[in-house]
Amino acid sequence: MCGIVGYVGRRDASPILVEGLQRLEYRGYDSAGVAVVNDGSIRVHKAKGRVSDLLAGLPKRFGGTIGIGHTRWATHGVPNEPNAHPHLDAEGRIAIVHNGIIENFKEIRGKLQSEGVAFSSDTDSEVLAHLISRSKAEGLVEKVREALLSVEGTYGICVVDRDTPDTLVAARNGSPIVIGIGEKENFIASDVAALVRHTQQVVYLDDGEIAIVKANEFQTLGLDLSERTKRSQKVDWDVGTYDKGAHDHYLRKEILEQPEAVTRALSGRLDTRFSTSHLGGVELDPKEILRIKRIQVLACGSGYYAGLAGARLIESLSRIPSSAEPASEFRYRNPIVDPDTLYIAVSQSGETLDTLRAVQEVKRKGGMVTGIVNVVGSSIARECGSGIYLHAGPEVSVASTKAFTSTIVAFALLGLHLGRVRDLSPSDGARIINALSSLPDKITETLQTEEQVADLAKKYLDSTSAFFIGRVNGFPIACEGAQKLKEISYVHAEAYPASELKHGPLALVCPEFVSVVLFPNDDLYDKNVSAMEEIKARNGPVISVGHNPELAAISDDFVRVPSSEPELDSILINIPLQLFAYHSALIRGVDIDQPRNLAKSVTVE
Ligand code: AGP
Repeated sequence: MCGIVGYVGRRDASPILVEGLQRLEYRGYDSAGVAVVNDGSIRVHKAKGRVSDLLAGLPKRFGGTIGIGHTRWATHGVPNEPNAHPHLDAEGRIAIVHNGIIENFKEIRGKLQSEGVAFSSDTDSEVLAHLISRSKAEGLVEKVREALLSVEGTYGICVVDRDTPDTLVAARNGSPIVIGIGEKENFIASDVAALVRHTQQVVYLDDGEIAIVKANEFQTLGLDLSERTKRSQKVDWDVGTYDKGAHDHYLRKEILEQPEAVTRALSGRLDTRFSTSHLGGVELDPKEILRIKRIQVLACGSGYYAGLAGARLIESLSRIPSSAEPASEFRYRNPIVDPDTLYIAVSQSGETLDTLRAVQEVKRKGGMVTGIVNVVGSSIARECGSGIYLHAGPEVSVASTKAFTSTIVAFALLGLHLGRVRDLSPSDGARIINALSSLPDKITETLQTEEQVADLAKKYLDSTSAFFIGRVNGFPIACEGAQKLKEISYVHAEAYPASELKHGPLALVCPEFVSVVLFPNDDLYDKNVSAMEEIKARNGPVISVGHNPELAAISDDFVRVPSSEPELDSILINIPLQLFAYHSALIRGVDIDQPRNLAKSVTVE
């Protein structure tokens, strides 16, 4: 979603801002803009569309060694140039960029209009520029503070002032802001991706904090303007990890990176001596583990599907009743938070607002929450305070692939850890450890199906819809398979538990409707064959994905994958589904890495 960059230093600001915005493109946006302070005035340039459109029209000598930039994902007001950020106040003295939503903007806008203020956009954000400019407070930071105290909602902002041309002011409430510490220059961003080319040393703002950032120094304050001392930390990801390399799309790169991602997720965490796992970030001692009565996973989208798989995995390894619920539902239904339940928040980005709010709701009600997160230092990771980092590396493509796989691996590690304190025998623990250790090689082997899967994507090009059918451990993967296909290729796809087919969806089966039936390595094989027969009897074409070579003879197409232990097998089954979605999108010629209407991290309601 929206992205923020800010720069103050000695270099020409606009190329740095534009390059930072390019690094944020993956988040999804529909317009972009930059503003610099140059010779006592603020210069603004904005464009609808891509950052390349912004760059194409950017005046050659834009000037300025301080500035702010923004990529906007429209919420209030259509995607057009006036609604793009930065927004100026009426005198052109203050420019702001804003992520989040100002909920009481209509009221503030009405009041300001009645005082004679003319607005140039339909956005909620513009009120901030006017409020800051009209504040009677003494300095820039005091004015920003006063403006922020009068707004309700979420914000990550960065501000420049024509009359304070050496200072950026940034603030955060529910929308991430990070300061990048350079040599005689400093940066602001909503995502470290925008900074890593220049520095890996960062300071994360917390909610309710303001930063005053100059070229040689920065200061962090609370909203009451009291000093907040913050330490800088080093981010692991450097600029190279964000590059597409020789690949045409980040999505394919990230699918192919899965063996290394899983290796990193496992690294240093398997304990063969006691057949368990070490999870340094999960602060539960054995007595606390024995007290856990339930586990509930909270996450959105693919994180939720990984959570469904994870809940089944944890339940089977630890025998603790486990379930998953979309965080977006949980947060709005006044949930009963049970002190004996362990809540697990899953998020690749660590910034999904619905998941963050669900975590806050659990904490507010005294619940116990831990996280499974990819982005180190992200809002959800910090709000949880404990948990498992995926170490999957940056996931740039909007559609999640390697983070999905690594999340299930993280659940397996957690299940092993909890299980070995509870009911899992040493031999079963050792069995899971062996299976986890061999996963990277098996994923590599599974990736060899790509050519065959690409042919299947061609063969089924005319299918108007697809079913993904799975049972028990196969069902969460069916959900993810359907999600990937619809998300990037725009083919209508739905997932069903195999046994649900005859309760309604079978009515849709016809020759134009392909079904992908999943056959994990479990004792439900025969039942899954029956479900497949029901489809075939209605002339529905079937692609089966599994291990048993017999499937080649009884389905229209069969993708054979190596097998693992029943608990982990679905990780392998999922990989051809990722490839199927990728190749289906490729032959349709759509924007694979940035599908229409979607954003990488959903930081609004
Ligand atoms: C994944 O392919 C989707 N783009 C989306 O469902 C995503 O998983 C969801 O928005 C949650 O994101 P998070 O993991 O960053 O919290």
